[in-house]
Amino acid sequence: MSIFSIKAMTEADLAAVAEVEQVIYEFPWTERNFGDSLRAGYDAHCMWIDHQLAAYLVMMRVVDEYHLLNLSVRADLQGHGYGRHLLQWGIGRAKGAGMDGMLLEVRPSNVAAKTLYETEGFKLIGVRKNYYPAREGREDALVLFKRFQDMGM
Ligand SMILES: CC(C)(COP(=O)(O)OP(=O)(O)OC[C@H]1O[C@@H](n2cnc3c(N)ncnc32)[C@H](O)[C@@H]1OP(=O)(O)O)[C@@H](O)C(=O)NCCC(=O)NCCS
Repeated sequence: MSIFSIKAMTEADLAAVAEVEQVIYEFPWTERNFGDSLRAGYDAHCMWIDHQLAAYLVMMRVVDEYHLLNLSVRADLQGHGYGRHLLQWGIGRAKGAGMDGMLLEVRPSNVAAKTLYETEGFKLIGVRKNYYPAREGREDALVLFKRFQDMGM
């Protein structure tokens, strides 16, 4: 049986996190970006399966909302429900902290992530034009929000 855990991200995890990140994104965060997130006090957690890094989640509290800054699953583990599990865990954590909702940005081209967020009740509330770097020029960001009290809280 696999040993499964979700723990706060620490400095000791940064190299492993950055290694996963470089594989799965065309425009990845750097190890330094993750380190800066920890030093800024962002809410960052890693999911471990059998002591191997499987996924991670970085959220930032802004007044009464959590902003989801990074949700990532190791390439060989994608499509097995870990992303949804970690997102639901993060939503539970935000609710537990008394937040009103969760905000995030996603590329329109990221069908997997977009579908995940929509099926978790996130709604489109805006578009940030030319937000992301892209292979040719820039790509817009869809801004999605999930209000917790709408979900039977
Ligand atoms: C996006 C990501 C976090 C989703 O995590 P995951 O573990 O791969 O996804 P899950 O297995 O939990 O699937 C959750 C839902 O996402 C959608 N999904 C996942 N893979 C998909 C694919 N290849 N195509 C379309 N939809 C997909 C489905 O709706 C799925 O729900 P279902 O299995 O009930 O149909 C993960 O694929 C990832 O890290 N991708 C690269 C980094 C990234 O894009 N992060 C998000 C940035 S906003």
